[in-house]
This record gives sequence, C-alpha cells and structure tokens, in this order.
Amino acid sequence: MNIAGILGTGSALPKKVVTNFDLEKLVDTSDQWITERTGIKERRQAAPNETTSTLCIQAAHKALAMANLSPTDLDMIICSTISPDMPLPSTAAFIQRGLGARTVLAFDLAAACSGFLFGMTVAEQFIRTGKARYVLVVGAELLSRFLDYQDRATCVLFGDGVAAGIIGPASPPSGILATEMHTDGAFAEHLYIPAGGAAKPASCETVRAREHYIKMRGNELFKVAVRSLEEVSRRVLEKANVKPEDLDLFIPHQANQRITDAVRERLGVAPEKVYSNICRIGNTSSASIPLCLDECVRGGRIKKGDLILMSAFGAGVTWGSALIRW
Ligand code: ACO
Repeated sequence: MNIAGILGTGSALPKKVVTNFDLEKLVDTSDQWITERTGIKERRQAAPNETTSTLCIQAAHKALAMANLSPTDLDMIICSTISPDMPLPSTAAFIQRGLGARTVLAFDLAAACSGFLFGMTVAEQFIRTGKARYVLVVGAELLSRFLDYQDRATCVLFGDGVAAGIIGPASPPSGILATEMHTDGAFAEHLYIPAGGAAKPASCETVRAREHYIKMRGNELFKVAVRSLEEVSRRVLEKANVKPEDLDLFIPHQANQRITDAVRERLGVAPEKVYSNICRIGNTSSASIPLCLDECVRGGRIKKGDLILMSAFGAGVTWGSALIRW
C-alpha cells in the first residue's frame, strides 16, 4: 500500500473585500455584533466575470507548480463545492477543460465545509491502492452568489474563495496518518437551499420567497459543531496514538471564532498552535481548510515533519478530521 500525502497547495481569492461596515449599509447589523459573535471583520466577494471554476483553475496551477507537476500528470480531479458554476455539468469538468488535464476522472463532491477533507480521503484511497498517483482536490466556493443580502443571520458569515491540494505518494514518516469522516442527514434542514433542485424546482414563487438562498439555523448548528469537532478530532488523534499536546498545528474549519475557541479549549491545544484567518476571510465552506493550509505552507508556518490536525463541520451535516505529517 502506498502512503498518500499533500504534495502542493495553492489558492485564489477574489480581489474585492467586503467589510462589516459595508454590510451595515445592507442589513440591520453592526461591526461590533459580527466581530463579537463570529470574529469576522471582512470577507472576499467574486467579481461578476469570475466563476467557481475560473478561480479553481488559478489555484490548481499554483498547487501543481508547488508539487513540480503539470496538468497532464493528474490522474483525477475532485472538486468539492456547494456553489458550482451550474447544476449541470460538474464544475470539475470545467476545471479539467481549463487545465487541459487529458480525460481523467473528474467529479464534484458536495459535503459543504467538510468537503476538502472528504475529497482528500477519497483521493487517499485511490493512491493507497495504486489506482491513481496524483489527484487534484479543490475546495471551492462562491457563496456570495447564494447569499440573501436581506438576511443578516447568514450574509455576514460567508465569503468567496478557492484552494487546492495535490494529493500523491508520500515518503514516510510524511503523509496522511489517520482520517475519519461522518454525515448525519437528521440535521439536513439546519443549513440548506430549499429551492432550485428536484425537490422544489425554481419558479417565480420560489424566487419571490427567496428560497434559492442559503437558510441556516445557526444556534442549533453551533452546539452540534462544537461537540462533533471535539469528538472526531479526539478519535483521529487516538487512531494515530498522538496526544493533543504533540500537535504542531490545528486547523479547524473557519465557521466562527467562538467555535474554534471552544473546540481548542476542550481538546487542550495551546492557543498559539491553532490557525485562524476568519477575521480576513470569513466562512468559505469547503475552501476554508485548504485556504488556511496554503497560507501556512507559503507563510512558513508549516515545516517538514510537523504534525497537523485538520477538522471540519458543515451542512448535511457532515464532519470529519484528518491528521497529517508534513
Ligand atoms: N447582526 C445583528 N444581530 C444579529 C445578526 C447580525 N448579523 N444575526 C443574528 N442576529 C440576532 C438574532 O436575530 C438574534 O436576535 P434576537 O435575540 O432578538 O432573536 C440574536 O442576534 C442572537 O442570534 P443567535 O442566532 O442566537 O446568535 P448566535 O450567538 O448563535 O450567533 C451565528 C449566530 C454566528 C450564526 C452562530 O450561531 C454560528 O456561528 N453558528 C454555527 C454556524 C455553522 O457552524 N455552520 C455550519 C458550517 S457552514 C457550512 O457548512 C456552509
């Protein structure tokens, strides 16, 4: 069995910054409320000519360059997104065409904020069994296109962004050491877009009722998120026989600084070992963890041999954790 690891990372953020003060002009909110309740100060918003796939292609080129690979070296492309370019075909198909990556298996995966870790886990299986050598996994969201800028409970939280990882053969002791992923559909309507799918096709009525936008029961999700993130992080650490104090870096999904702080405290990880960019980027769902990872790699925060725990929670609900040695 081959060991899989992350060989390169890359990201692409839209240029436009939307501050809390900008949102004060749209909805009944305040910089103080958003900062105190979420830790977010600003987020990015895609320009009209940008799409999920165009940003994915930029991020993929950077990740490929870091891994010293070209698009034709790829054996598979997995795009994790809940904000695809269009319902049909997959955003992965546009990424493949844009990269010129032959005719390799390319598909989308919908697991919201846990999506990058889900994609990495799928890629790992193909690499372990020798069915693939190099897999591009992209976490990509243009959530601004699905936000209701009349709903203060959601529009202040989310941002746009894309980040990619190249998963490929690793040389021990580096590589993916342990993973665990879960889904519980019992909470499916806690975070969802009610209309625009087969259950409720788009119509004038659904648009009038604003049902094509993200709806969220944030308060209920908060408690499930903290509990699930703690449990799954602990189990992954146990699987690899690693103690929280042995970690060099903990990258949690960036949903809310208060969730991050609560999970960190419950796990007993030192504050300086936790990475957070939520104040600048907001919640970018499946792009959140790889964006943090790319910032850490390029910023020198991660060095060879570091033990890194990544844990995510999102719509579905989905949650999961992965422990890697860089
Ligand atoms: N500005 C001002 N007031 C607001 C805002 C806002 N932007 N949003 C909500 N409020 C108000 C509410 O209306 C409510 O007012 P009321 O008491 O008069 O009814 C009050 O603030 C408190 O609302 P809560 O929802 O209880 O606030 P809470 O402290 O829970 O914070 C938040 C809300 C930030 C959404 C939080 O619950 C959260 O982060 N939840 C988790 C989100 C999450 O993890 N999602 C899953 C991942 S995302 C993905 O998968 C795509």
